Amino acid sequence: MSLTFTRMHPFFFAAVSDVDLASPFGNDILVEILNAFAEHSVLLFRNQILVDDSQIAFSERIGPLEKNITVTFGNSRPEISKISNVDINREVLKKGSDGEIFLKGNSVWHTDSSFKVVPALGSALSAREVPPVGGETEFADMRAAYDLLNEKKRKFIQNSTAVHSFAYSQNQMNLDGRYKVTAVMSDEELEALPPVQHPMIRVHPESGRKAIYAGRHASHIVGRSIEEGRALIRELNEFSTQPKFVYRHKWQVGDLVMWDNRMVMHRGLPYDPIYRRVMHRTTVAGHAENNPWVIRGKVA
Ligand code: OGA
Ligand code: MN
Repeated sequence: MSLTFTRMHPFFFAAVSDVDLASPFGNDILVEILNAFAEHSVLLFRNQILVDDSQIAFSERIGPLEKNITVTFGNSRPEISKISNVDINREVLKKGSDGEIFLKGNSVWHTDSSFKVVPALGSALSAREVPPVGGETEFADMRAAYDLLNEKKRKFIQNSTAVHSFAYSQNQMNLDGRYKVTAVMSDEELEALPPVQHPMIRVHPESGRKAIYAGRHASHIVGRSIEEGRALIRELNEFSTQPKFVYRHKWQVGDLVMWDNRMVMHRGLPYDPIYRRVMHRTTVAGHAENNPWVIRGKVA
């Protein structure tokens, strides 16, 4: 058996046919999937009947999984992040509630776990319940954005390191002063996420492709004033998410989309909260050796 990959965007994102991710498929198939993942950065698998155990089992074949940063949302397992507007009592989160605002962070362009010392390699999001309209997820190809970035900025980010901070990105959600991340996460959970530094360019270990690495958790740039760094990060985020770099995925129940957090950014689009939207995510951990900062053994 051999898989078919259909590119959905000129630069990235391919749909994969004919594989049941819940089955114990052979390593030959896994290699095909991983090669395609290296090439297309985002893969869509339709019609997957997954439960948490089979989603975890498939994701673990790619690499060790991250654990959740909080226990608040009543996830069934530490390896499953519920990206859901339905709370543990099966009720839709109220607009303006802390949980709803926390979730809304996903609507700002980002790359998962960039606030961790070792950020995520990949994420796999499984659609369990989807709204009939809205709630799409957009992806931006940061490799294509890097390739088309002007020479001056490319040189600048080549030698630059950004500070990524969960506290910073959460505070951005607190613009009217009502939201408190401490209502969602414990002091211990928050203290486990101090600011970290990452290079502003990521290099794919197999394809050698380079990508801009920024997103909403990037707060500022080492060696520049906060304002200057923040302005440049905003500019890079805006440049990289121009329509020509973006693919919008319209979800169907049974879709599993897997993306490379080193090479793409993503965001969730709004939807009417009369609808339920339940997505389960597994997150493949990155490799420490990708981050020279970690090798030097300190966290800023
Ligand atoms: C995520 C995420 C966006 C969405 O799962 O990491 O950002 O559309 N999701 O749910
Ligand atoms: Mn995300």
